[in-house]
Amino acid sequence: MIYACILAGGIGSRMGNEKPKQYINIGGKPIILHTIEKFCLCSEFEEILILCPKDWIEYTKSLIKRHVTASDKIKVIEGGSTRNETIQNAIDYIDEQGNLTEDTVVVTHDAVRPFVTYRIIKENIEAVKTYGACDTVIPATDTIVESIDGKVISQIPNRACLYQGQTPQSFKALKLRELYRSLTSDEKEIMTDAAKIFVIKGEKVSLVKGENSNIKITYPYDLTVAESLLKGEKGQ
Ligand code: CTP
Repeated sequence: MIYACILAGGIGSRMGNEKPKQYINIGGKPIILHTIEKFCLCSEFEEILILCPKDWIEYTKSLIKRHVTASDKIKVIEGGSTRNETIQNAIDYIDEQGNLTEDTVVVTHDAVRPFVTYRIIKENIEAVKTYGACDTVIPATDTIVESIDGKVISQIPNRACLYQGQTPQSFKALKLRELYRSLTSDEKEIMTDAAKIFVIKGEKVSLVKGENSNIKITYPYDLTVAESLLKGEKGQ
């Protein structure tokens, strides 16, 4: 079984808005609804799980009821204290439904990446079936400079081997849970990226080609970019 997990459990501190950024309107509609609509186009999902802050569950449910026609497959559940904990809540929910087997797949996606495409989602599903884990990436365009102390450069890795991570990231759910549970609390603290859990444990993660337009809305400036991208999508 394949589950979509839309990660909306954050508060958007860098956006500095009074409500979490996933509920800010772009093109007259909350960002989270744009994202949900993209996942509704894919028929492979058993359910589309929306994980949001506890205080926003009822609001999210009513948004979906009012605006999404095919809402029968959508479940709204509580997110966790970190992004990884949010993913674990999704896996726990799947387990409670009695559907967590070796083959269960979670396609995890940031609620604040509303420009994900049908192709990217389909290629994630194919890649995770083959490799057990995959990450959506685009080639790095800027030179990436590493500095350990924040003062001088420690390394400039070869750009040809560098990519920028996007989402979706897709995993065999049981494997992800097992690997996550094997981390120490210190490791959990620094493990902000779910694919990294596989990598540090020596598991293969395959690459899916992302898109430059698959941006993550993080800062107020990104809202302006998102409005322009929306106009492009609508051909205006
Ligand atoms: N996320 C989540 N659960 C958390 C934290 C983050 O589901 N406990 C989600 C966010 O809602 C977002 C995605 O993970 O859709 C990417 O995270 P990020 O852009 O860092 O979102 P926030 O944590 O909301 O933002 P900030 O770091 O600025 O507070």
